[in-house]
Amino acid sequence: MNVSPLRASHPVPASQRITLLGTGTVGRAFVARHVALNARGMTLPPLAGIANTRGFSRIDCDCPNAVLNQLRDSEAPSASEWIADAVFGPGDIVVDASASDVIAQQHAGWLRGGAHVVTACKLGAGTSRVRWQDIRDAQAETGARYGDSATVGAGLPLLRTLRELAAGGDRITAVAGVLSGSLAYLMNNFDGMRPFSSFVHAAHAAGYTEPDPRDDLSGEDVRRKVLILARAAGLALDVEDVQVDSLVPLGLQPLSRAAFFERLPEIDAQMRAKFARAHKKGEVLKHIGRFEFLTDGTLIARVGLTSLPASHALAAGAGTDNRVAIWTDRYCENPLVIQGPGAGPEVTAGALLDDVLTIQRHH
Ligand SMILES: NC(=O)c1ccc[n+]([C@@H]2O[C@H](COP(=O)([O-])OP(=O)(O)OC[C@H]3O[C@@H](n4cnc5c(N)ncnc54)[C@H](OP(=O)(O)O)[C@@H]3O)[C@@H](O)[C@H]2O)c1
Repeated sequence: MNVSPLRASHPVPASQRITLLGTGTVGRAFVARHVALNARGMTLPPLAGIANTRGFSRIDCDCPNAVLNQLRDSEAPSASEWIADAVFGPGDIVVDASASDVIAQQHAGWLRGGAHVVTACKLGAGTSRVRWQDIRDAQAETGARYGDSATVGAGLPLLRTLRELAAGGDRITAVAGVLSGSLAYLMNNFDGMRPFSSFVHAAHAAGYTEPDPRDDLSGEDVRRKVLILARAAGLALDVEDVQVDSLVPLGLQPLSRAAFFERLPEIDAQMRAKFARAHKKGEVLKHIGRFEFLTDGTLIARVGLTSLPASHALAAGAGTDNRVAIWTDRYCENPLVIQGPGAGPEVTAGALLDDVLTIQRHH
């Protein structure tokens, strides 16, 4: 059977080009997917430049992988000085695959210059309300797009579903979910018998956690995701509106990473006690990020361990999957539940390229 090559239905305007910031796990997967889709005959904006902390390289050949490898292996630290001089404007699609606050601070300015920004990094729309508002204002001023599908659920249809429900006039009354792959793994495997610390070690060894697992256990990453979800639902929450219960005991917070791992078993007693309390009630412990309107109309937002009855929409789930429940006027008895892989380089890179293709279709 002959299958004709896939082609984007809209030709790429001659001036559109991608600049990729970040050559780490996600950046590499982005280049691999760009090369693969091109090889399948899909029309994509070309990769015109790649940058990491050690520098910026233009790509004027058909070999972005070679440039990526060269840049990745380069040793000359340029301390990201290029960023102060970086000017992006109409036709540019800046893909942020870094975790850099310095870069996130530039998102609004690039949009204001007319460039589109597509990001996996949550530090643009998931931190202060002022920064998020600035990004929104900049989009409104120039019509440039901000692609954020990769920031929560790595492209699962969460943000667009919330936006479409809100645009359709549905009031979103609550959103709650398992929003961290590493915390999903920990809570899906912790059995209350073996020490919790042994599961943290296993998750770390399998690459499910950040290099420092406290970045996951603190709940700060989930706080950013809750902020991004709430803002997509039309609720302008600020950082301190989300109450976060960290799983890291106070005494372990200021330690070096090595010292933290040494004293990690200190976490075990509290986790065993929490598990036992839930188990006694026939419930399960999950790490949940949520916002909801209480019956008196108060909006609350929280991140932390939650004990759930087995019948709850979020009690199921396995492995590292994200699982999110959305309650609205329409979905008031049973929530709409969206579940699937919410982390990992391939799905994240796919979400970034989906956003690039959406921009290509509309501009
Ligand atoms: N991994 C996942 O599954 C996943 C899922 C969803 C979202 N994300 C998000 O995707 C982003 C990238 O994640 P990752 O796992 O690929 O991280 P990573 O492997 O640590 O790579 C980060 C890259 O960003 C570059 N970078 C950092 N600061 C920079 C700066 N100021 N200027 C230019 N480049 C800079 C780094 O440069 P050097 O190489 O020079 O250090 C590195 O290449 C993060 O925001 C993460 O939260 C990741």
